[in-house]
Amino acid sequence: MSGCVTSWSNITMTSSDHGNDPLPPRVVEALRCSVCGALLMGVDRTLRCEEGHSFDLARQGYVNLLHARIPAGTADTAPMVAARADFLAAGAYRPLAEELARVCAESEGLVIDAGAGTGYYLAHILDAAPAATGLALDVSAVALRRAARAHPRLGAAVWNLWERWPLGDEVASTVVNVFAPRNGPEFHRVLRPGGLLAVASPAPDHLRELGDLVLAVADRKEERLDGTLGEYFARTSRTAVRRTTVLPPDQVRQAVAMGPAGHHLDKGGRRERLAAISEAQEVTVSFTISTYRRL
Ligand SMILES: C[S@@+](CC[C@H](N)C(=O)[O-])C[C@H]1O[C@@H](n2cnc3c(N)ncnc32)[C@H](O)[C@@H]1O
Ligand SMILES: [Zn+2]
Repeated sequence: MSGCVTSWSNITMTSSDHGNDPLPPRVVEALRCSVCGALLMGVDRTLRCEEGHSFDLARQGYVNLLHARIPAGTADTAPMVAARADFLAAGAYRPLAEELARVCAESEGLVIDAGAGTGYYLAHILDAAPAATGLALDVSAVALRRAARAHPRLGAAVWNLWERWPLGDEVASTVVNVFAPRNGPEFHRVLRPGGLLAVASPAPDHLRELGDLVLAVADRKEERLDGTLGEYFARTSRTAVRRTTVLPPDQVRQAVAMGPAGHHLDKGGRRERLAAISEAQEVTVSFTISTYRRL
């Protein structure tokens, strides 16, 4: 719960660095105390409920609402997050960001990115949706340090998506989920009626040239996705985003290290095989974006 408060005042931030901003008011209004479920009030750099539970905003701009331990191997680690940030900055997944921004461009109010990582996709969406405010939820505090700085209209909160989310009912116009855990009942509860759910997942041929360096995409993922969401949502579109691109060796290494295989680099000689890559490689980048309306 309440962590130690370090001094904020002597930290120099550039004008494009939003890490020291308070959480956007719309995010504070939507959040609930993760201990008792009450409304939260922002006072200085602390969120507090009327029962006296309090949560400090970290120096890097996110709030940690967790109070239970998370199993090892759940949150993306610092090396995984660094690999993801560098990889995404180089632009190979930009077509996915642009397509997500297009489908979410009409969003107003609160857009929640469930499993937001570094906030790359949410920042693109907020650029396209000027009336929206973003909330990045992720269990990785390391990732949210970056997300908190990704956009001026973005707030970030550490949370385990498999637990009931520390948010009120129907607080969001849009929920986005990109390669992250999908909690259908919570997507439904936090979305307002008619709200938009946009889910991006890797297609079976995504990065197929990298073989077992990456972990295989489970077959029939889309059908299973519709099955799990069917009770709560009606699918409104499904778009394939697919291209081939040439990745230099460093980006091949980052693509592997930032994904689920990043938790297993010491298995199957992955680390050594990655280190030995010396040439650029053509790869297939292949995603599916599915959109749904909340029933
Ligand atoms: C493959 S990454 C995708 C990150 C981001 N959406 C992107 O595409 O750049 C999966 C993310 O889900 C987060 N995650 C995994 N399990 C989680 C959980 N139970 N609750 C919240 N976040 C979780 C990880 O920390 C990681 O940031
Ligand atoms: Zn409380």
